[in-house]
Amino acid sequence: MSNQLSSKAENTSSKSNAPITGDSDKKVFIKTYGCQMNVYDSQRMNDALAKDGYSETQDMEDADLILLNTCHIREKAAEKVYSELGRIRKLKEARSEGNRPVTLGVTGCVAQAEGQEIIRRERSVDLVVGPQTYHQIPQIVRRARDGEKVVQTEFAIEEKFETLPLASTKKIRSRGPTAFLTVQEGCDKFCTFCVVPYTRGAEVSRPVAQILEEAQKLIDSGVREITLLGQNVNAWHGLGHDEREWGLGELLRELDKIEGLDRLRYVTSHPRDMEQSLIDAHRDLKSLMPYLHLPVQAGSDRILKAMNRKHTAAEYIAMIRKIKEARPDIAMSGDFIVGFPGETDQDFEDTLQIVRDTEYAQAFSFKYSPRPGTPGAELEDQVPEDVKSERLQRLQALLNEQQYDFNKGLVGKTIDVLIEKRGKTEGQMIGRSPWLQSVILAGSEEDIGKIIPVKIVHAAPNSLNAEHISA
Ligand code: 5AD
Ligand code: SF4
Repeated sequence: MSNQLSSKAENTSSKSNAPITGDSDKKVFIKTYGCQMNVYDSQRMNDALAKDGYSETQDMEDADLILLNTCHIREKAAEKVYSELGRIRKLKEARSEGNRPVTLGVTGCVAQAEGQEIIRRERSVDLVVGPQTYHQIPQIVRRARDGEKVVQTEFAIEEKFETLPLASTKKIRSRGPTAFLTVQEGCDKFCTFCVVPYTRGAEVSRPVAQILEEAQKLIDSGVREITLLGQNVNAWHGLGHDEREWGLGELLRELDKIEGLDRLRYVTSHPRDMEQSLIDAHRDLKSLMPYLHLPVQAGSDRILKAMNRKHTAAEYIAMIRKIKEARPDIAMSGDFIVGFPGETDQDFEDTLQIVRDTEYAQAFSFKYSPRPGTPGAELEDQVPEDVKSERLQRLQALLNEQQYDFNKGLVGKTIDVLIEKRGKTEGQMIGRSPWLQSVILAGSEEDIGKIIPVKIVHAAPNSLNAEHISA
């Protein structure tokens, strides 16, 4: 089979250091698919393009530059991109007759995995840029506007973080009181179902000083909660001020010292990298929210081995116990895949069992999707679609029940909520609990960014309702 995921993807762009001459009064629309890292990357691309005169628009029809920041983790994600490109082609054709042509680009993991193939499949695409070279995006856009088809899928992650500009204070403020901050990118784990090691490349950690500088800027601009991002965030490591190698636990301790940084989170973690210093951080740091996304994927040792997860179900359960001892109110979250090749009914029962043993407050579950170029896709014994669907339904019923139970357990309690944004109706605001639930309560826009104690009066499967505590 063809390996579309070769890390030496085609690269037709080399003369990328041309000076930038401003492209003022232009508008960019970025549509983001997939994970939180893509949300962060889209913001950073917006920030880089802002320096070149582009302002953000939420209206695709009004844009001079349309970028689809894509996800390749499952099949449907890539297919959605191609159908969206087909729709945009029409918009592009209509606009080409006027004096405001549209430049169309594909960024993100589909761009990295498919490279030139995207332009072959959809001629209206002008540029294809992988996640590691977003710092070059202003120059690439300029070349595309001059009529060149540009494909840039180099791996250049250190350079990316050194050169990508930080957002302006005004822009950070407009994004609200919570922010993402990528501290680590790529993955060396090579789970046999996963494209990430191919699309995002090898694991790279950002240096401590760079992370602290970005965090300080966010806090100075009004942010109160930072979520550290990484495909394998708890594998982050870097040289600390004391010339020792720090892990994520030490980094969190340092971030906790920043005045005004009230809430810290991190996502997403691998059970093998849950070091003691990180567990200790959960015990010690008030700012580190009691929520942990620790995917296990499956509950059967046979399947965990076939997935190359490098731990057993019992080791995962033991780890959860240790974490709960350090932080008894921690809410567990996870990811699951059903129907990995060779998964029997008994293997699936083991997955249900690990869910019962762990008790998740939230979880994400998916049908296995063979990804071209990954070892899992080559395995025989692929599970039929109807079996996958039936298993997914049963798993989701259990996970939904656990989530609802977790939410109901908070009714009557007083908890702190960070007010994030306006709700659907007038006078309604949405906040976040420490356990990441959405909390609906009365208020006004002036409350955005405040952390206030409220009483939970009602629990729904996906949210909580709260009342203010009368003085
Ligand atoms: N099929 C289904 N789910 C997948 N994930 C990753 N790769 C696949 C795949 N090939 C899921 C995993 C991972 C989450 C981000 O997406 O559960 O943790
Ligand atoms: Fe993919 Fe996560 Fe496994 Fe890395 S650890 S290969 S990102 S599932």
